[in-house]
Amino acid sequence: MEERPVVPTHLGIIMDGNGRWAQKRSLPRTAGHLEGLKALKKVIKEASNQGIGFVTFYVFSTENWKRSKQEVSYLMGLLVSKLHGELAFYNKYNIRILFRGDIATLPKEVATVINNTISATAANTGITCILAINYGGQDEICRAVNRFLEEKPERNITCKDICSHLDLPEVPPVDMIVRSANERRLSNFLLWDSAYAELEFYEKLWPDWNFEDVQRICTDFAKRVRKFGGVQ
Ligand code: IPE
Ligand code: IPE
Ligand code: MG
Repeated sequence: MEERPVVPTHLGIIMDGNGRWAQKRSLPRTAGHLEGLKALKKVIKEASNQGIGFVTFYVFSTENWKRSKQEVSYLMGLLVSKLHGELAFYNKYNIRILFRGDIATLPKEVATVINNTISATAANTGITCILAINYGGQDEICRAVNRFLEEKPERNITCKDICSHLDLPEVPPVDMIVRSANERRLSNFLLWDSAYAELEFYEKLWPDWNFEDVQRICTDFAKRVRKFGGVQ
């Protein structure tokens, strides 16, 4: 039997370049976000075909609140309408949706649709699509430490304690983080989990991503030699 190449168990994607995509076409930045959602659907479908178990998409960072009120409210509105409107898509492709980030402080209607989406896709057994919303790696570590302190204020915290108090402790750490739009930074994404993640940066703007970009990620990942501090 033909052996399948190794793919990341957990892939993290920093979806960047929506604004530039729109700007190049003299469209409002919001048009780039809408097109970016179409790319997300193609990418998760191909990730599932490739046998990837988990994909975390960076949707909205704790720093993105600095953007104009109009852009922020467009993004929040898009979340509310599309999370609900795309349920048939997730269920058709057996995709389970989870969220990572400070969901409790989001506008109430966004938090509600998030909780509904988790329940409506909980029985799906295929790929897990994790949407990082109001997410910051530093913020997640702080919240994990505070959760721990509430439980066990009497003893020192360990790395294992932090792992078990992150937003999704059951999800394995990210194996590879990729970013679109030719920016080479993490921008506060998955800081704890990225300790030994492979990194790759691609030029293509996020709304232009398609099936072949996932195939390229898998090819790039298969070439990496991971040592985790040891000797190969
Ligand atoms: C990524 O695209 C989407 C979000 C951060 C919400 P950008 O909106 O950052 O696009 P550029 O970087 O301005 O092109
Ligand atoms: C990172 O992109 C956040 C998301 C993709 C949601 P940004 O466009 O906000 O990052 P910076 O500001 O260029 O570092
Ligand atoms: Mg950007």
